[in-house]
Amino acid sequence: MTITNVTHKEQINKAMDALETSKKNVVNAQYRLNYHFMAPVNWMNDPNGLIQHNGTYHMFYQHHPYSVNWGPMHWGHAVSTDLINWKHEEIALAPSESYDFQQGNEDIGCFSGSAVSVGEEIALIYTGHVIGKSPKEVQAVAFSKDGLNFRKSEKNPVILPPAGVSKDFRDPKVWKKGDTWYMVIGSSIDGNGAVPLFKSENLLQWSYMGPALTGDGTQGDMWECPDLFPIGNKHLLIVSPMNMDNGKNIIMAGEMDYENGRFTPESVKEIDEGDDFYAAQTFVDEKGRRILIAWMDTWQTDFPTKSEGWAGAMTIPREIILENGEVKFLPVDELKNLREELTTYKKIKLSPNETVDINTQNTFKDSYEMKVTIDLRNTGKTGSAGLYLRISADGKAKAKVYYDINEQELVVDTTLAGGKTNPTVSRAKVENPGDCLTLRLFMDTCSLEVLTDDGRTWITSRIYPSKESTGIYTFTENAYAIFKDINMWTLRKVID
Ligand code: FRU
Repeated sequence: MTITNVTHKEQINKAMDALETSKKNVVNAQYRLNYHFMAPVNWMNDPNGLIQHNGTYHMFYQHHPYSVNWGPMHWGHAVSTDLINWKHEEIALAPSESYDFQQGNEDIGCFSGSAVSVGEEIALIYTGHVIGKSPKEVQAVAFSKDGLNFRKSEKNPVILPPAGVSKDFRDPKVWKKGDTWYMVIGSSIDGNGAVPLFKSENLLQWSYMGPALTGDGTQGDMWECPDLFPIGNKHLLIVSPMNMDNGKNIIMAGEMDYENGRFTPESVKEIDEGDDFYAAQTFVDEKGRRILIAWMDTWQTDFPTKSEGWAGAMTIPREIILENGEVKFLPVDELKNLREELTTYKKIKLSPNETVDINTQNTFKDSYEMKVTIDLRNTGKTGSAGLYLRISADGKAKAKVYYDINEQELVVDTTLAGGKTNPTVSRAKVENPGDCLTLRLFMDTCSLEVLTDDGRTWITSRIYPSKESTGIYTFTENAYAIFKDINMWTLRKVID
């Protein structure tokens, strides 16, 4: 029996008061996003417990309601009927028990995890983290009948790290197959990322089946936020590797053997080659779609919005498609409901090193979607063609999104886009460029998500341009290009 010196409800009330007080700290908030999910105020990181339950989408997330910096972790909570409009609810989980709370210790809390429907109830499965305690990370469960108030189980903690598995042992992802619950946990075995697998009949008693997979030595020394799920006739495994290529999330397609509890990967790729994408989590909605949302930041990135009283955001929801064994990600259809005003261009022909202004009326400010098809047949087979976005009046500041024709790469160059101390150039191979390349992009006040090649290739970056930098040009460098079709929509604001 756990000895409790504060009740869970008291901790939630305290945190809600802190949030209310902090709201006045959101000042000069030019970067509050228009349609990307954010906490009402203060710090947030990973998406947690994504689920659609009785028609309602629930988004939980790692949240520090007391400050703009990471701290004792709570689970923020919001609900939606369309994945676009979100309503903030009361904090769902706050540190309160000996396995997730310790007076005076700041490195504690309810770490990442997942949600499942159990009849009418929602169960949250999360990691209790208390640094300095042994073991420091254990798994816990909380239940709710109304989808708003969660009570932690008396049986917690329900899983401790088994022998041979690292004490870094967090981020449980639970799913059901037949009558059995399965859980993968983010961990490490002998210095390689690993996902220990457990099974249970009731979410409370779990048996260890061994690691579903251990990394091959090149995939980081610890895997955070694993997600293993069936899609089509395959299983996909997502992990967030630590200490590998800036922590780019990887996705493996393969076969799952439930008898022996082993996942055999057949292919592996990065989900998103941008610098601001981490801790991706998926869920199946009632339409049967497998939807992915990630934290649109990483631990290595800057958070210039801390000076505005908030930090952290989610990516747009992306649907995962498995087609002929290949994994693709497409923006969910609901995003089309954000579209307002449409501007189109046809057949803009550019000679080498030419630019054309395509925002002459300045209709497009900081929140828009673009779909641009570039005819690649007569480029000269070298150079590049693409877009300058968020251009400043003097032309010096801009984000560049382009296709490197020779390298067959999508490139997002944020080095001149502003705001970050560590801006970068992200490059991603385009597997099937064909005669025409279609670029799609989603711009918000301080984010840019670009995809091409039918959703095979994505680059997500945070950028922090000045409000006045709104120019949009097509450009070429050492190449001819025909911008065959350009559709651009302003997108409406739906997030506070
Ligand atoms: C991933 C992560 C998780 C952990 C959480 C803590 O970004 O480090 O492994 O549960 O964040 O907030």
